[in-house]
Amino acid sequence: MKDFAQLEVLLTKALESVKEFAELERVRVEFLGRKGKLAEAMKGLSALDDAERREAGKIANEVKQKMEKMFEAKKTEMENQKLAGLAEEEWIDVTLPGQVLEEGHLHLTSQAIEEITDIFSRIGFGRVLAPDIDWDWYAFESLNIPKNHPARDNWETFFIKGPEHGRMGRVVLTPHTSNSQVRELEKGKLPIRMINIGRCYRRQIDVSHNPMFHQFEGFMVDKGITIAHLKGVLDYFAKAYFGPTRKIRLRPHHFRFTEPSFEVDITCGSCDGTAKIDGEKCRLCKAGWLELGGAGMTHPNVLKAGGIDPEKYTAFAFGWGVERTLMMRAGIKIGDIRLLHKNDLRFIQQF
Ligand code: FA5
Repeated sequence: MKDFAQLEVLLTKALESVKEFAELERVRVEFLGRKGKLAEAMKGLSALDDAERREAGKIANEVKQKMEKMFEAKKTEMENQKLAGLAEEEWIDVTLPGQVLEEGHLHLTSQAIEEITDIFSRIGFGRVLAPDIDWDWYAFESLNIPKNHPARDNWETFFIKGPEHGRMGRVVLTPHTSNSQVRELEKGKLPIRMINIGRCYRRQIDVSHNPMFHQFEGFMVDKGITIAHLKGVLDYFAKAYFGPTRKIRLRPHHFRFTEPSFEVDITCGSCDGTAKIDGEKCRLCKAGWLELGGAGMTHPNVLKAGGIDPEKYTAFAFGWGVERTLMMRAGIKIGDIRLLHKNDLRFIQQF
């Protein structure tokens, strides 16, 4: 009798610490299984006389039923707990607004490249591609800049180590997009109205220079092309990109591959070309003008290098920095060209 009473106490204790269903089953086998604790205690009954055995058997049965009930109760309790846990874990509020995915956008320079491409395509200038790792011939020699010519100094070029290749010379990281000019002429399809937008490299770095930057190069070749065409195209671009009130001017300059050559200026957007803001000197421009980039009428030697007869055909070209152009439109908001390639989201997300 004592054994049976103790079994109940033991089971109560054992069940208290059960957390998993597998553990519950293990405890059930330990107490109620064929070789379990209850079966063990029942064995002792055979040693009793009839009357005692009957009495003890009754009690043993009651204890067995009680223990089975205790298991059932524990199992139900655990199942309820599990369900309550599930409801807590998997609860969703269907009335909440959906999660909005963060949307990225094109980099400022890529936006400008798309816009510039679009503006020129409207007047029939198709985008071409030229390599940004190219032969010296296309970057310099064919552009009327012979080896050892001092004009090469302006381009502070990165040369790639390797053997020279006959007429083509060494391999360079193109310091400007003008390498596309003779490449396009060599295709032999005239007339040409092209825009080449690509990466350029120079050994320079400060607030207005990056070692890697972009230029866009316009090139128009046909019979009877004059400075008037050049001016018309540049004026069109300036008004389309910067706004209809902007004006351009051409200033004499020198490039080996154009004759005559010009620097192109545009009226300043901050002071509207007046050089003054509220009586103070404008901080952005020089006397009301901002410098955009180089341009000119293509030198006959360049046309000849591309197999074109300069007596029959004339051409103009211009080459400007993409980053400088977009900075000019942003006014003083971008004070340092190096910010553009720093990948600082606090900067990039403003545009
Ligand atoms: C040239 O590179 C000529 N190829 C342009 C040209 C083409 C003239 C066709 C005539 C006909 P320049 O070295 O001035 O010219 O560079 C042109 C523009 O590139 C500059 O006005 C500037 O906007 C941009 N640029 C030059 N170097 C850098 C640099 N390190 N970082 C950012 N922009 C630059």
